[in-house]
Amino acid sequence: MANSDPIHVGVLFSTSGATATIERSQAFATLFAISEINAAGGIHGRELVPIYYDPQGIPRQYQAFAERMIRDDKVNVIFGCYMSSTRKAVIPVVEKWRKLLFYPTPYEGFEFSPHVIYTGAAPNQNSAQLADYMTRHFGARIYLVGSDYIYPYESNRIMSDFILEVPGGKKLAERYLPLDATEKDFIPIVRDIKAKAPDFVFSTVVGKATRMLYQAYADIGMDAVKIPIASLTTCEAEVAEMGRRIAAGHITSAPYFQSIGSERNQACLRNFRQQFGDEIEPNMCWEAAYFQAQLFAEAMREAGDDSYEALLPRLLGREYQALQGRVAINPANHHTRLNPRLGRVNEQGMFDIIAESVAGGVTPDPYLVTHTGEEWNTLQYLPEAMHG
Ligand code: ACM
Repeated sequence: MANSDPIHVGVLFSTSGATATIERSQAFATLFAISEINAAGGIHGRELVPIYYDPQGIPRQYQAFAERMIRDDKVNVIFGCYMSSTRKAVIPVVEKWRKLLFYPTPYEGFEFSPHVIYTGAAPNQNSAQLADYMTRHFGARIYLVGSDYIYPYESNRIMSDFILEVPGGKKLAERYLPLDATEKDFIPIVRDIKAKAPDFVFSTVVGKATRMLYQAYADIGMDAVKIPIASLTTCEAEVAEMGRRIAAGHITSAPYFQSIGSERNQACLRNFRQQFGDEIEPNMCWEAAYFQAQLFAEAMREAGDDSYEALLPRLLGREYQALQGRVAINPANHHTRLNPRLGRVNEQGMFDIIAESVAGGVTPDPYLVTHTGEEWNTLQYLPEAMHG
């Protein structure tokens, strides 16, 4: 007789804490995919059942809940994590139990676990393109500001390397603020930015402090059109929190923006809103969380089983038509071939896509082995980009 048991899967994103807004979008994207998979008959008639806990943005709670999901709830697969500190806390758990983590967030690269599938951008799929665009259009004197943890330290190091290769490239300052920084903490930073007058600011501030940085930047009279803040993480979720007046003119590098005009993307956004309302703003992390769950379901349909040993060979090399375009899991490094884009916030609080990848995307190179940039900078600049 066919197995009709439900399949439990872990959903490990925070709905409280510093990164609650963005992680809630990832959690709901995962639930959206699960509901579509179940509506289409599940996996050979077996229903996917999400197991959810709120780790509140705290790495040791991610670790404890990952352990609980695997040991007590018997999940083989976890969809989860935003901050790199939390992913690094979960990896030893999935490795110990021989399970699989799907991680849908851009991050600093320089990592490989055989028990992780990375579906967000690696630095050669977002930082390289951003550095190239910003230095051509604004200049290479850069001010770095970030949250105080591993992703910002490492991303700033990588961005600095790219910038210092450009003639005249200079790092004017590198500053860090705690994840629970408050409004007043940003005042000395933006004063210093104003005094140093960089060509652009590179922000690796994440979570609820993002709004505070952009707000303080506007309040002190910095003009986003002339000296924009460039980011790898500031997306529709944070733009909605800060408001379009403050966000307009700033630039983000990501494979996905809501404004992608394809009928498939727009239909998917309508379906999501119908089911989950307007509170969640779909964004790059939402899209990765959505496609990775769909890609998992396809692989499991073929494998017939969600054990690590059965699933992994079906995942490696697998292609999927995502909302951003075609993606594929790289068998050598478990990262994903993605479609880099650059977006600039417009007066409506949406991203105008100013550049997008041609030639079917960019192969992930998480260790930046191919350090020439030429293979990565396959961006086509769209007409709006000429105004930069
Ligand atoms: C991040 O910490 N990877 C955004």
